[in-house]
Amino acid sequence: MTRRRASGNRWADHYTRKAQKEKYPARSVYKLQEIQKKSRIIARGNRVLDLGCAPGSWLLYAAELAGPSGRAVGIDLQPVTIQLPAHAEAHVGDIRELGDDLWERVGAPFDAVLSDMAPATTGNKDVDAARSLDLCEAAFTTAKDRLTPGGAFVCKIFQGEDFKTFSDRVRGAFKQHKIYKPQSSRKASREIYIIGSGKH
Ligand SMILES: C[S@@+](CC[C@H](N)C(=O)[O-])C[C@H]1O[C@@H](n2cnc3c(N)ncnc32)[C@H](O)[C@@H]1O
Repeated sequence: MTRRRASGNRWADHYTRKAQKEKYPARSVYKLQEIQKKSRIIARGNRVLDLGCAPGSWLLYAAELAGPSGRAVGIDLQPVTIQLPAHAEAHVGDIRELGDDLWERVGAPFDAVLSDMAPATTGNKDVDAARSLDLCEAAFTTAKDRLTPGGAFVCKIFQGEDFKTFSDRVRGAFKQHKIYKPQSSRKASREIYIIGSGKH
């Protein structure tokens, strides 16, 4: 018999319940918490750009870390509906074709560019990895354009045949480079995070 979980969601697990309790809209917040613990990518007063920010967990957590003297800006295809603090904002748009007016509102430079973007998946791992890579390329271009020297980049990628080539390109743009699978990332998921810090 399949045990019905608390939320009625079959994926509900320890992290989902914890997120509900701690008032984050998604369990993914714990991946950023683990990344932060490992690499200290966001400091008080930082300006953070969060690509693929909906439903808003990373954005909210990044805003908490940056504090009111910092700024957290998110972009997603979907609107963020949670209440954000005054120093955080979310915009709706496709990162691959954002208009100049929206980029102007987003501004620059940033101390950290985060991408937790995920494509619509098909179940075909090669197609999904290629779609993920496309989003990673857009995130990396944004990071190169908008990060301040010394800034940090975090990018989720679905591992596929081009993973190493992409990862090596990120390595070339930063002083430190790590590849990290947080504990809170589902074991079955092919997602992994590339962390670059100290942008050249
Ligand atoms: C796993 S969710 C992000 C969760 C988020 N980090 C959080 O903690 O709430 C991935 C997001 O990437 C967004 N996304 C996918 N393709 C995108 C694109 N081309 N431009 C902007 N956002 C995109 C999706 O709409 C989705 O909300």
